[in-house]
Amino acid sequence: MAYETIIVEVEEGIATITLNRPAVLNALNDKVFNELGEAALSLSADNSVRVVIITGGDKVFAAGADISQMANSTAVDVATREKVSHRAFQLLENLPKPVIAAISGYALGGGCELTLVADVRIAADNAQFGLPEIKLGILPGAGGTQRLPRLIGAGRAKELIFSGDFIKADEALRVGLVNKVVPADQLAAETRKLAKRFASRGAVALRLAKASVNEGLRMDLEAGLEYEHKCFSLLFATEDQKEGMKAFLEKRPAQFQGK
Ligand code: COA
Repeated sequence: MAYETIIVEVEEGIATITLNRPAVLNALNDKVFNELGEAALSLSADNSVRVVIITGGDKVFAAGADISQMANSTAVDVATREKVSHRAFQLLENLPKPVIAAISGYALGGGCELTLVADVRIAADNAQFGLPEIKLGILPGAGGTQRLPRLIGAGRAKELIFSGDFIKADEALRVGLVNKVVPADQLAAETRKLAKRFASRGAVALRLAKASVNEGLRMDLEAGLEYEHKCFSLLFATEDQKEGMKAFLEKRPAQFQGK
């Protein structure tokens, strides 16, 4: 599919979505949100795709929602537009395969919120994160007030949201906002290495493991454990479970077929 504001490439079962509005530091407008949503749907349905990487390239991840689009918006415009971002981000968050964000440079506002819908975040050592919306007289409206506290705790999230301050990659690692920090020139290679590791696992087990974590986080512990048990039981109906355990007993690497 041809997109205007993103580039989607698939190589060896790993899809890469690259934000592509360099003139405005990959600012996210409605077109970007819609295209991200379309890409999420299309990559969900493509069985040849095992893992998805989201990146902004090697200079900037994204400097937030497009302020020029928002500046003269009415409350009614925004009520509709925010749903556009929520829809896209929920489609990405629920994509039934691992999603890795590879972050170089600024990940601000909606850009930072976009990293939060990934399963794993890898930052280049030049990355900077922040939710500067408060400085514009608004609040993070693409999931930031909900996903960030769930990821790093309410106290740390509120400090970022109330101050609008940026934090560097090492601080983002310290507070648990990213999984790993790597030298900027190794971001793409390190991300691909992890993507390949995920891709070598069974696709059905990955899908249910992701659903178990994501759905479980929306439930109380008891319901989450019940959900996990259903996913766990279901995997015993797969060929991959038979192969995984047989391979272990035969002391050889498993060859998963995603069945
Ligand atoms: N929306 C729209 N345009 C944006 C943008 C955004 N969120 N962020 C950057 N841009 C545009 C700038 O207007 C500029 O366009 P111009 O060349 O036509 O003037 C271009 O991208 C480059 O940005 P610039 O500000 O010149 O780069 P910088 O290196 O001096 O500063 C930032 C980088 C990220 C610190 C700065 O651009 C910034 O603060 N951006 C807004 C961040 C923000 O508040 N995000 C939350 C939005 S809700």
